[in-house]
Amino acid sequence: MNILLLGSGGREHAIAYKLAQSKQCRRLFIAPGNAGTNQCGINVDLDITQFDAVKQFVFNNDISMVVVGPEAPLVEGIVDAFQDDNLLRHVKVLGPSRQGAMLEGSKDFAKGFMERHKIPTARYRSFTADTLQEGLDYLATLKAPYVLKADGLAAGKGVLILDNLEEARAELRAMLEDAKFGKASSRVVIEEYLSGIELSVFVLTDGAHYVMLPSAKDYKRVGEGDTGLNTGGMGSISPVPFADKEFMKKVEQRIVAPTIKGLAKEKIPYCGFLFVGLMNVDGDPYVIEYNVRMGDPETESVMPRIKSDLVQLFTQACDGTLKKNDIEIDSRTAACVMMVAKGYPQKYAKGKVIHGIDEVDDCLVFHCGTRLGDKKEVLTNGGRVICVTALADGLPQALLASYQNADRIKWDGKYMRRDIGQDLLKYIE
Ligand code: AMP
Ligand code: GLY
Repeated sequence: MNILLLGSGGREHAIAYKLAQSKQCRRLFIAPGNAGTNQCGINVDLDITQFDAVKQFVFNNDISMVVVGPEAPLVEGIVDAFQDDNLLRHVKVLGPSRQGAMLEGSKDFAKGFMERHKIPTARYRSFTADTLQEGLDYLATLKAPYVLKADGLAAGKGVLILDNLEEARAELRAMLEDAKFGKASSRVVIEEYLSGIELSVFVLTDGAHYVMLPSAKDYKRVGEGDTGLNTGGMGSISPVPFADKEFMKKVEQRIVAPTIKGLAKEKIPYCGFLFVGLMNVDGDPYVIEYNVRMGDPETESVMPRIKSDLVQLFTQACDGTLKKNDIEIDSRTAACVMMVAKGYPQKYAKGKVIHGIDEVDDCLVFHCGTRLGDKKEVLTNGGRVICVTALADGLPQALLASYQNADRIKWDGKYMRRDIGQDLLKYIE
């Protein structure tokens, strides 16, 4: 079949790499893609927020499956746009309906959903400008640190964690009264702080059944030792050594199964990925957030561990025929190291020539923010530029191979954290 993949990051390159391996994939198009996805299929210059243009392309190119990488088109209702179209209803679109995407698109909706289905998460309340005073009073009943979350999508910036009550109150005012995050913060969720270690759990579901994908840990802060500003992610490790069988059983029983059941019970159409951001609090999992897509850079360590045919799995997810054991996973450890442009996540330069991509050995290179120049040279085109994933029998070996290869890729202003995965070494014998 012909497949269209929407998105342009490292996540999409990793998905494209797996899709292209499938015998069932005839032609793969990626919109808009990057210099890496160009090696797996054909990049298409489409604005993926313009659903009419996407639909036209699907119609013209005999596309049977659309795979949606990022959350924005899902929250905007791309799945519904196909469903509502008589000519395109038959196209398999991997992703939840607009209503399902609210698990990510509205923190208040997600918290209410968890409450209804008794899924463990931090205690919370939601406030708007009309209930600002109640919000200020509620903060005073909590202990520091204070967690404030803009209800809507805020490009990953909408969560504030504050040590001081007065600061938390000022931020609540700024979010509700001064639209600090625009419309996204017209409602704010205040929740209890959870203390523990985070991980990302991924599920592929058809809305009734699911398969567990490999779990991963990402590294969000720009600086070593988890310091400095939040980023999209500076690296990832899969599997997560502390997420042993016993812990993952709790995750499935207390969180994944009730979530899928809850979606079915509320008649919310959902096929595609569910990404559960979890906190391990003394051995018990609590949901920090739901996302309705894969994580980036988690995908870059998760996809290389999936041995099964991805087109087959996606087809089953779209057709409602997924079975729990339908997935084969590589037992090796994957370590992904992200290389970024100096200055990221603030101001950084673009258009630098990247050297050494062909010099890597026994690893995978996934492009994130790259583009091809006029002479077909690979240029930097974003903050997170390119990453390397190595697979090995153990975490230390995977890390060694990743860093050895990452050191071969160079451009003016390249930066990477040197400590990805170091915090996990204590969990392995
Ligand atoms: P999010 O944008 O929802 O991923 O949140 C950003 C980060 O804030 C998460 O990755 C966590 O590190 C942190 N966080 C969110 N909610 C809580 C919470 N209730 N307790 C502690 N940390 C949190
Ligand atoms: N790496 C976290 C995310 O994709 O949201």
